[in-house]
Amino acid sequence: MLKTKQKDKYIHTEKENYMQVGIESIGFYTSRYFIDLKTLAKERGEDYNKYYTGIGQEKMAVPPPDEDIVTMAANAAHEALQNAEVNAIDMVMFATESGIDQSKAAGIYVHSLLELPQTCRVVELKQACYSATAALQMAYGHIHLHPESKVLVLASDIARYGLGAAGEPTQGAGAIALLVSASPKLLALDAHAGFYTDDVMDFWRPNYRDEALVDGKYSVRIYLKALAGAWEHYQGKSGLKFEDFQHFCYHLPFTRMAEKAHKQLAKITGHRDMDENVLAEHIRDSLIYNRITGNLYAASLYLGLLSLLENSEKDLSGQRLGLFSYGSGCVGEFFSGVVQNGYRSYLMKDEHLKVLNSRIELSYPEYAKFYSYTIPTDGGTYLLPKNETGLFRFAALENHKRIYERVQ
Ligand code: CAA
Repeated sequence: MLKTKQKDKYIHTEKENYMQVGIESIGFYTSRYFIDLKTLAKERGEDYNKYYTGIGQEKMAVPPPDEDIVTMAANAAHEALQNAEVNAIDMVMFATESGIDQSKAAGIYVHSLLELPQTCRVVELKQACYSATAALQMAYGHIHLHPESKVLVLASDIARYGLGAAGEPTQGAGAIALLVSASPKLLALDAHAGFYTDDVMDFWRPNYRDEALVDGKYSVRIYLKALAGAWEHYQGKSGLKFEDFQHFCYHLPFTRMAEKAHKQLAKITGHRDMDENVLAEHIRDSLIYNRITGNLYAASLYLGLLSLLENSEKDLSGQRLGLFSYGSGCVGEFFSGVVQNGYRSYLMKDEHLKVLNSRIELSYPEYAKFYSYTIPTDGGTYLLPKNETGLFRFAALENHKRIYERVQ
């Protein structure tokens, strides 16, 4: 009898969600180094307004050689787990398109650096910038089956297009860690989500390259098409309308993309004539952090969410947010969630502002030097040059193995 009752309690239907599952905490890390896009524009012979206004980016995070997706994710996770019941974590999902190994999941290094329980699954997921959303939704399902557990979703990437490439001003680097549980202190996810998949070549990176190939203008069009498809699927399942959302967060390859996307969504939902200020207000606060970090690929949407939560002057408690995740190639997903009462006391805005405002500015030659560093591949022993990397760093290479260390 008790068994049936317990089971019923945790089953959710398309109409009703009996148990709240979502994001309990968010940790964020971006490189301690950046280049101002005014500096890059001067070097490339461009008007900096093309970057500042045309694509909506001001600064770009640049990782030093001793920083990679593992160290960035470990830094973000360390922050997300500060007040968490770490022993309840039984799954770590690492979302990235900047993989460091074709076989071993990057999450295993993070699991080790943070001394997480051995009774834990760890796996890496890939689908361009989309995979963190797949991880979040899998975590949602897992917690519904096992309400006592917690899942750590890591999204960590380094966006590289190449020196002088059209995509260069949209590069960036950083990580987000989401602790997902049945105690969603920040955002409770809705059960409904809408998907869109299409086999397209808008952006890709063959295994033999460490820089992405991209058909830039086409990728923008495909992003908008995927948004329309995912919204239609979501709307049909949820019955929710554009006006049911107080704010929207979009995948942010560059912040102007969110403006284009939001206009498109307003248009296809019959709000083409909505006051421009109202439309801008829907997304404004979600753009603040990405504008000064650049594209974080898989983590980008979730940095937008963090930016909204931390920078909104109004209390967002009880407000429903619409989120659109996009990964080239391509998969799009529209989903939603409700901001929880008291969410502000679980944020770390002051720490984030301190970190963002104390970053080290690079000259163009310094940026080009960091960017061009390639790790030796001959299997020898090498110590990596020491830079600012937060709590963790990629310290050495030995017999084709990466050696990580805790700095403090
Ligand atoms: N002042 C103000 N605005 C200016 C300007 C100036 N002096 N000069 C140009 N602009 C404007 C242009 O009018 C244009 O605006 P619109 O988009 O409104 O037309 C904007 O600045 C960009 O100018 P261009 O289109 O000429 O720029 P570009 O040819 O250099 O390419 C880009 C822009 C295609 C986005 C390129 O940066 C790129 O390839 N980026 C990487 C790919 C990408 O981010 N795609 C996004 C969708 S795919 C995705 O989302 C997945 C992912 O994360 C990669």
